[in-house]
Amino acid sequence: DALYRPGALGIAPTVPTRAEELEARALATMSRRAGAYIAGGAGGGATMRSNREAFDRWRVVPRMLHATTTRDLSTTLLGTELTAPLLLAPVGAAGLVTDDADLLIAQGAHASGVPYVFSCQGCSPMEETAQAMAGTPFWYQLYWSTDEELVDSMIGRAETAGAQALVVTLDTTMLGWRTQDLDLGSLPFARGQGIAQYTSDPRFMELVRERLAAGARAAQSLGIDPRRPLQAARAAKGGVATLLSMSREHPGGVRDNLRSPEPRAAVETFLDIYSNPALSWEHIATLRERTRLPVVLKGILHEDDARRAFDCGVDAVVVSNHGGRQVDRSIAALDALVRVREAVGPEPTLLMDSGVRSGADLFVALALGADACLLGRPHVYGLALDGEAGVSAVIDNVLAELDLTMGLVGAATVDDITRELLVEG
Ligand code: FNR
Repeated sequence: DALYRPGALGIAPTVPTRAEELEARALATMSRRAGAYIAGGAGGGATMRSNREAFDRWRVVPRMLHATTTRDLSTTLLGTELTAPLLLAPVGAAGLVTDDADLLIAQGAHASGVPYVFSCQGCSPMEETAQAMAGTPFWYQLYWSTDEELVDSMIGRAETAGAQALVVTLDTTMLGWRTQDLDLGSLPFARGQGIAQYTSDPRFMELVRERLAAGARAAQSLGIDPRRPLQAARAAKGGVATLLSMSREHPGGVRDNLRSPEPRAAVETFLDIYSNPALSWEHIATLRERTRLPVVLKGILHEDDARRAFDCGVDAVVVSNHGGRQVDRSIAALDALVRVREAVGPEPTLLMDSGVRSGADLFVALALGADACLLGRPHVYGLALDGEAGVSAVIDNVLAELDLTMGLVGAATVDDITRELLVEG
């Protein structure tokens, strides 16, 4: 009844409950480039469509007369107590939507008591986002850099900041075939968005300084453009502090100052090192010695990869196709979840994302073997429509529908959400 009380009083919500409406209204507030980056997928969008179609193939079979008057949505994941089986997925470059995007998402997540997985390509240094979580658990997501020292530096910072798990994303060793971004000639990182995790990192800034110094030496030896080596040499000595304060104090600053050497060097360095196409199981095997945090591998779609991950000693896997943003015509994440759960058995911790849009979707994913799900684009849409309150409203809507579904179906706890409550077709 509480859900309908505001409506009965004539109070309309700021954030629509229906996923399609949420997306449409949010996109209407964004620039074309921001909308393309956030809503877009790989290729012709077949993977994104499959993610939704997979959910549409499952039907819930409610039971009656079970008197499920109270529901408990809480669960424990990798030793972390969660109020519900839901986390906010890592999203890079959310600063396209609004300044301080990560801080607002963190505050929204905290308001609803749901963990946020910070992206390696976040818009604020992870230490600041951690503060904004105000005690609500958070995880840290890593893209494996080609620079191993940077990998260690980021892991160390995440540990110190209080992350409760390390999520290594496997599916983006190269950026996918993002047709909308390609056609608009637009990539947020190339304009300095989403690199705050890097420009706030001492090892990364060392790499930037090396690049500037090498540039200065090269320009000198070639004897071209007498102003450039001077600029570069000055930047190599003192310019790094300027870059740091610029990217912290003015989120748009790096982008606006791309013509000066320091931010340029930072963006170029980022593009060179942010991800490693040679990433292999050998890298993953080194993690146990590099961190005390539980390790989660994100982006698994094949059951053999899932088996191998658990054989390697990882603590959990996120079955995900990156919201359909990487390989077009991929298997739907929900279909992959079914296969992976069957292969690994009931015990290993499996999370799932890509296509979850509602509490009913979350219910289906849990029934098919997910221990929890991550929510991607919808929380960014909530952010676009109503900042921190919008993020929180999106989460609350998903959880309210989950709670209601559990009550109407006869599942008092998350463990009661089982495959027997579904039929296919
Ligand atoms: C992402 N995703 C992502 N994943 C990741 O591991 N690191 C990242 O930096 C990002 N960045 C990112 C930006 C944007 C704008 C989007 C939409 C997505 C993928 C994300 O974590 C998640 O896997 C998907 O978004 C889940 O699919 P849905 O819920 O968007 O369908």
